[in-house]
Amino acid sequence: MATYEEIFRASTADPEGFWLRAAESIDWAVPPSRALDDSRPPFYRWFPDGELNICHNALDRHVDAGRGEQSALVYDSPVTGSQRTYTYSALRDEVAKFAGVLAGLGVAAGDRVVIYMPMVPEAAIAMLACARIGAVHSVVFGGFAPKELAVRIDDATPSVIVSASCGIEGKRVIEYKPLLEAAIELAAHKPGKRVVLQRPQAEAAMGPDDVDWAAAMADSEPAGCVTVKATDPLYILYTSGTTGKPKGVVRDTGGYAVALNWSMPNVYDVGAGETIFTGSDVGWVVGHSYIVYAPLLVGATSVLYEGKPVGTPDAGQYWRVVAEHGVKSLFTAPTAFRAIKKEDPKGELLAGYDLSSMKYLFLAGERLDPETHRWASDLLGIPVIDHWWQTETGWPIVANPAGIELLEIKPGSPTRPLPGWDVQVLDPSGAPVATGTDGAIVVKLPMPPGALPTLWNDDERFVSSYMAAFDGFYLTGDGGHLDDDGYVFVMGRTDDVINVAGHRLSTGGMEEVLAGHPDVAECAVIGVADPMKGQVPRGFVVLKAGVQREEDELRAELVQLVREQIGAVASLKDVAVVAGLPKTRSGKILRKTMRGIADGADEPVPSTIDDPAVLDALRPVLRRP
Ligand code: COA
Ligand code: AMP
Repeated sequence: MATYEEIFRASTADPEGFWLRAAESIDWAVPPSRALDDSRPPFYRWFPDGELNICHNALDRHVDAGRGEQSALVYDSPVTGSQRTYTYSALRDEVAKFAGVLAGLGVAAGDRVVIYMPMVPEAAIAMLACARIGAVHSVVFGGFAPKELAVRIDDATPSVIVSASCGIEGKRVIEYKPLLEAAIELAAHKPGKRVVLQRPQAEAAMGPDDVDWAAAMADSEPAGCVTVKATDPLYILYTSGTTGKPKGVVRDTGGYAVALNWSMPNVYDVGAGETIFTGSDVGWVVGHSYIVYAPLLVGATSVLYEGKPVGTPDAGQYWRVVAEHGVKSLFTAPTAFRAIKKEDPKGELLAGYDLSSMKYLFLAGERLDPETHRWASDLLGIPVIDHWWQTETGWPIVANPAGIELLEIKPGSPTRPLPGWDVQVLDPSGAPVATGTDGAIVVKLPMPPGALPTLWNDDERFVSSYMAAFDGFYLTGDGGHLDDDGYVFVMGRTDDVINVAGHRLSTGGMEEVLAGHPDVAECAVIGVADPMKGQVPRGFVVLKAGVQREEDELRAELVQLVREQIGAVASLKDVAVVAGLPKTRSGKILRKTMRGIADGADEPVPSTIDDPAVLDALRPVLRRP
């Protein structure tokens, strides 16, 4: 058995050979003759002459290999009190039928389909059905408000939208159909049909453009797999950037299939017949990669869970899921564990569940604080593996490769770079910093298969956002350092992106909403540390001259505005009216300084500050717990 060091070295010494060998585990319609097309940097293309269908690789090939009766997807929904298991055969049949529905609605290879759904198996079925016919899906997280959905509809210009009548948040039923209607009303692009899954908790009124999921499935002619180029887009996943306009991260097909297929046994130590439970949402990259595609590519069983880790009915649900479904690897965000710890600090709910199947806990999506790491490790007595990646990268950049060998765990570090990822830390001039010194975390180009080839319809923004800061490097947007053993320490974002309960959000987007209020002259939103959600946004507004408002009333209006325009998931609950915002002499708001003070740091006053008195006046508000 090769060691991590040997495997990593092989990937850097001969990337071409390394990834072509990894590609042999995929069923290709036309096998790739070479790994990388690097003729047009920074636009790299993996497996340029390969052709395949990822749905065939995720479903049909396992059925063809005689494993059709094995569980593929387990839907576990404490919020509806239901469970359903799909074998590989059953899932393949459902996906083929829904692919037939889409084809019947005129969806062809290359067309986009927006999926706006709660955590129901039909969301995964819709994704795989798109992949089956070569259509490009774009899943929009159900917690986003109509305006956010509308922006994505206008950018992706889908021919069809797939949705559901409602989602369930704890004990609340959230009707999706009115949100969908509002989004279509706001969008300039008008999609053709909308397929709606009726759920008994709240059935939707159907209009002339609506197609009932169940009725359409009953009439459907199953569709086969359409072969696409490895470089064809599989999906677009929008993610937060610096402004309110989200970035449409494009995922290719062949590179992604190879990378995910490699990561399952080598990182998550999960193979055919074993079970992974990823507690996330299909609206995020973690859900795309490790609820849907990766587990199915390797013939494993994936648990799709509808609910929160706490609340309905209690904070022992993750343990119940592990015990009932024989989960080997549990993957979620640290915030889920902080939520469980808050409800059940002694882990008393663990008793009564047989957790012997669980070998690892994987955590990602935000910084794993050492305290939560320790609590989870002590409670479970298994390796707790922090790992770091992003929507853009599609799979982990830095991890402890449990399936190869378990490296020493250093709390605070997601461990070491995986094969293909040449992670470096640079200072603003582009020079590498010494170990232990913080700087911009970058990846030397080309990145390995699976990483984004570009942004949807926006090569220019791809270059300006990620490739322009340091020539020849991808800018991750995270800051941090390396240590002498090559461990990576990710300390936080260096831009206006924040992570709230593992959800990636843009403070810039929230500022745009607050600035749209008629009484607001200027504003700032910063992410501050929160014991449960990791970070939460705090807003600061300066009113227009002459405006007199009762502060509580105005705050309620502003909070509501952000809920309406971005969604409840923004979690902006705290907005303060202040006399002024600290700025540099050139007029730039000193958000980093504000953040530092709010987090309790002894933040030095920058020499570029315009008026130190403004900052002094703000200090008590920033320090308020
Ligand atoms: N549809 C509609 N509303 C949603 C939603 C969805 N899919 N997801 C979240 N929301 C709402 C919540 O109901 C909440 O509304 P409220 O302000 O009216 O109470 C708001 O958005 C904020 O949600 P969240 O930040 O998730 O807070 P929470 O208190 O509801 O739950 C956790 C906190 C930690 C339990 C939950 O975020 C969690 O389980 N996170 C870990 C797993 C995860 O999803 N990771 C993502 C990436 S790996
Ligand atoms: P997303 O694109 O939603 O997956 O969010 C990616 C961002 O989450 C990264 O750029 C980091 O800021 C943060 N992140 C993800 N995983 C980790 C981790 N293990 N440690 C620290 N930050 C993380």
